[in-house]
Amino acid sequence: MRFLAILSIVVAAAYAKSYDGYKLYRVHPTSEGQVDLLKKINDDRKIDFWSSLRFSGKPIDVMVEPATQSLFTSFLNMNGIAHEIVIDNIERIVKQEKMQQLLAPRSSRGSISFNKFHRFDEINAYLDTLAAQYPDLVQLETIGNSYEGRELKVIQISTNRAASKPAIFIDAGIHAREWLAPAQALYIIKELVENVENRRLLEKVDWHILPVMNPDGYEYTHTDERFWRKTRSQQDGCVGTDGNRNFGYHWGEIGASSWSCDDTFMGPSPFSEKETISVRDYILNRQREIKLYLTFHSYGNYLLYPWGFTSDLPYDDSELRGLAENVNAAIVEAGGDSYEIGTSTNVLYAAAGGSDDWAKGVAGIELSYTIELPAGRFGGFNPSPTEISGHVQQTFEGVVVYGEYIANKF
Ligand code: ARG
Ligand code: ZN
Repeated sequence: MRFLAILSIVVAAAYAKSYDGYKLYRVHPTSEGQVDLLKKINDDRKIDFWSSLRFSGKPIDVMVEPATQSLFTSFLNMNGIAHEIVIDNIERIVKQEKMQQLLAPRSSRGSISFNKFHRFDEINAYLDTLAAQYPDLVQLETIGNSYEGRELKVIQISTNRAASKPAIFIDAGIHAREWLAPAQALYIIKELVENVENRRLLEKVDWHILPVMNPDGYEYTHTDERFWRKTRSQQDGCVGTDGNRNFGYHWGEIGASSWSCDDTFMGPSPFSEKETISVRDYILNRQREIKLYLTFHSYGNYLLYPWGFTSDLPYDDSELRGLAENVNAAIVEAGGDSYEIGTSTNVLYAAAGGSDDWAKGVAGIELSYTIELPAGRFGGFNPSPTEISGHVQQTFEGVVVYGEYIANKF
């Protein structure tokens, strides 16, 4: 009876877009040339590469719609590219995730849990509660609104606002489907505010955290289309801009699309999106205090730093790399998988218009990182809710290293 009741809730709560028959393939290219062949068939809506299209020895995950699968597999076979199916029907995984979300125990009012992915209103309720409970430590600032009008709330955590200490700015969720990223930001917030053992991390540093940078997209992935990536702004043609191709530094030069239907659409102009404008202005208003910029994404276990528009190394490559190595060591020590470290272009792929490049190149925040969190066990964007807490705890140990570094350096 209870099962039927739940089932009917799931059916009623079903997403608008079905991934019935979509498969996730794992492809094992053995040469640069094979990767180049894959690049030719990249087509976000039919053949959606979830991993970076780069020859690295790592396998590449790709979601393929039903009507294109036989073409896709014959293409691979013809070119002798090894592959296997990792998820036979993606809709089943999406439904299962929805079920797990519904079954996860509710967190009590004003608290937050890490056994499910929270909706935007629950996240805001938590921030509001913290602001009410810790008025001396926490301040909320609405830094703008999303395209659909949702508030972009930054939580500022500071033991002495007047002191204008060096600050760390963190955002997450610029890409809608990367659910682990907002969860990570929330865990950092919870640890910094609610765990008194972490007070030392606040002594010399202020923290500014925007846990959901693209709330329209985030909500859309909960209600309509699980693997949506972009904002939800109406464009000439299709909906949405890739926020991480929309920042105004070497905008559109490489690795970004000028077609609005693509997942990596750069937007009609730099900073065409309300979400990227809001972050830009917030950072520019605190250019002198902010010493470290972190932007959380998923997935792939990468610690990336500029540049993403060129393969040239930044002048301070050794500092950026050294710090990332210490961060990684702390995460590994906590039981997490090791991260690959390097510049975005050299480790992942060239893509201009990213927030990390802009933070360093324009805002002058020399220490700027994109953190690609771990993949879920079954399909990268979907760590099962039971996997969340392990990942966020392990990654927090890396964030501690960042905090200590800023405290000591400035
Ligand atoms: N997966 C991220 C993206 O595609 C990586 C961004 C790295 N930074 C960069 N500036 N390309 O947006
Ligand atoms: Zn991303």
